[in-house]
Amino acid sequence: MNRYDIRTYAVIGAGNMGSGIAQKIATEGLPVVLVDLDDEKVARGLGIIRKMVDQGVERKVFRPERAEKILGNISGTSDWSKLAEVDMVIEAVFEDLEVKRRVFRRLGEVCKRDAILGTNTSSFLVKDVAEVTLHPERVIGLHFFYHPAKNRLVEVIGHEDSDPDAFDAAWAAMEATGKTPIRSADAPGFVVNRYFVPWVNEAVRLLGEGVADLPTIEAAAKQAFGVGMGPFELMNVTGVPISLHAANSLGKSLHPFYAAGEALVEHVESGKGNWSLEGEADASKFQVVADRLLGVTFYVAAQLVHEGVSTVEDVDIGARVGLRWPHGPFQMINKIGVERAAELASAIADKWHLDVPFLIANPGDRKIRINLVQFEEKGGLAVIRFNRPDALNALNVQVGVQLLQAIERARVTGLPGLVLAASGKAFVAGADVKFFVENLEKDAFEPIYHFARVGQDVYRTLSGKRQPSTARVQGLCLGGGTELALACDFVVCSPKAMFALPETGIGIVPGLGGTQRLPRRIGLPLAKWMIYTGEFVSAADAVEIGLADARAEFRELDATCASFSLRGRHPGRTAPSAAPSTKWQALWDFFAQHSVEQILSGTAPANGDKMVERAIKRIATKSPHALYAAEKLLNDGARMELDAGLDMELDALKVVFLHADALEGMKALLENRRPAFRQPAQV
Ligand SMILES: NC(=O)c1ccc[n+]([C@@H]2O[C@H](COP(=O)([O-])OP(=O)(O)OC[C@H]3O[C@@H](n4cnc5c(N)ncnc54)[C@H](O)[C@@H]3O)[C@@H](O)[C@H]2O)c1
Repeated sequence: MNRYDIRTYAVIGAGNMGSGIAQKIATEGLPVVLVDLDDEKVARGLGIIRKMVDQGVERKVFRPERAEKILGNISGTSDWSKLAEVDMVIEAVFEDLEVKRRVFRRLGEVCKRDAILGTNTSSFLVKDVAEVTLHPERVIGLHFFYHPAKNRLVEVIGHEDSDPDAFDAAWAAMEATGKTPIRSADAPGFVVNRYFVPWVNEAVRLLGEGVADLPTIEAAAKQAFGVGMGPFELMNVTGVPISLHAANSLGKSLHPFYAAGEALVEHVESGKGNWSLEGEADASKFQVVADRLLGVTFYVAAQLVHEGVSTVEDVDIGARVGLRWPHGPFQMINKIGVERAAELASAIADKWHLDVPFLIANPGDRKIRINLVQFEEKGGLAVIRFNRPDALNALNVQVGVQLLQAIERARVTGLPGLVLAASGKAFVAGADVKFFVENLEKDAFEPIYHFARVGQDVYRTLSGKRQPSTARVQGLCLGGGTELALACDFVVCSPKAMFALPETGIGIVPGLGGTQRLPRRIGLPLAKWMIYTGEFVSAADAVEIGLADARAEFRELDATCASFSLRGRHPGRTAPSAAPSTKWQALWDFFAQHSVEQILSGTAPANGDKMVERAIKRIATKSPHALYAAEKLLNDGARMELDAGLDMELDALKVVFLHADALEGMKALLENRRPAFRQPAQV
């Protein structure tokens, strides 16, 4: 068990960042105190939050009741004695080392001995802030991105004296507040700013050198990186002096390559304000501009990995989640070819007398491996982590292959347990529907079958082994994700977990074991309810009906997973034969007694039960063909051994996917419209 138990939060500094951080914590239902120098500043910060939340209500992001709840989770004070019982404090005061150190000295005095102290510094090392407290081991860097209530990325930074338990607790606290954490070493600029600041700086250098004019650089950058705002517009939004400060601070601690170019210094010092974006772009210069910006990005990205500050995966997640680039630097390197990327990076490195990092200096003919599924040994367990948070960890062929490789690595370690985890707000949100649609449009069923067969084979390796597997379901768990959890020996979920099998709503059926494993866990009637209705099942309900074995707060999630994973070989499950409680009785009876045909034809009465009425309504919107197919699989599977049932489910895929409802349902999902399913002949 982790000795740090984070339930309550405080944010010091009620400015732009601090107020946004507090807002996000409160939005996730957690209590937070906002602290500033005096009551007026606190009130200003609370005012910023109220305005943002009110805007959320106007734009119908929240209902007014939810907005009141969010605001109710936040209190403000300038009285530091209120911090005495807080579990995690996040500092977001001015970017001035002396100010920050004063704050940390004071926090060291007023906070309890097991409080975690986080700093949102952008340009100082965490250790330089931490060393002034009596307990530097509890100081962790938490670098948020603007706007912190909306941007999910946070860099979590340990330092040479930090306690691994404090790091893990801070990480779990970030997950609990709905963030997507990535890890960074305690190094200048951490991960994202280390390549983003030079990207901006290089744009100004190009301008200063007269390589192209401003509208051309702006347009070339947007095109090459697929972004909505170019470097100059971004500087205008965040404040041009901030870019100067950021570049100079990197330049000071790293190398003159990072220092602000003359044009940027001159622009700020002469008080020119925002850049003028007016003018026509000259497309003939796009390539030369793009090459420089790409070269800088590739050089720094590879350097970050070379120095061990970050990983290939986290560099890319940082770009996609934090900067909203459609592709991370390493994905771009693979796209244009490692050899060409190395040429571009070398051009930059040569100019500044820097070495080209090994990763791209010796490309060979291979792509850089990007692990969508990562393996690590942690706390005496094998941990496999889905690491594509911005794609909600959706399954595709590449993920399937990497999952299999990771499972094999886990087995070879001989460690006593295996945990399947994921980063971001989803555990695994189903399979890549685009892949299905593209193949069906080409009349190609074979790749779909291959995907399902490989997926089923991988899932079959997960349970009943000497090394028990536990799914650590921290968030959204849909379709193939719920089937993956079901394939594990144990399922542990956070309070934010939501399970669903929505396939019949897109014209297909669960094809990775869902029609066979679900009834064996929760009983045939409730399995029918979940599969026919696609209803979301909350964490609490999942535990009640037996879909999950336990629900644990984020701070206890890892320990709970470990306790299940260390139980030894799972003996197998027996399907329940009765409703779990009176709450579920009517649903249980309804689905035990009525067929799809009766439900669709309106001859199955709800008898006034609200849950049943809702189920009937939802079923009417699903694909009848898929419903009949699911019913047959569920009923026939109940009379078979699991393995035979899984084979049957795989065999049924062709009939399901080649029916018109499948293409219609999945296309409708991609086009964000209601599907028009065929009416069945039977009814
Ligand atoms: N703005 C960004 O995009 C961004 C992004 C990531 C990190 N950061 C970092 O976040 C921190 C805050 O940035 P900001 O943009 O919110 O600044 P800001 O100027 O908007 O807010 C700073 C707040 O801290 C308060 N403050 C100053 N000294 C204090 C003290 N001793 N005790 C309590 N409160 C004090 C100020 O009154 C002010 O309200 C900085 O370290 C910055 O580098 C900023």
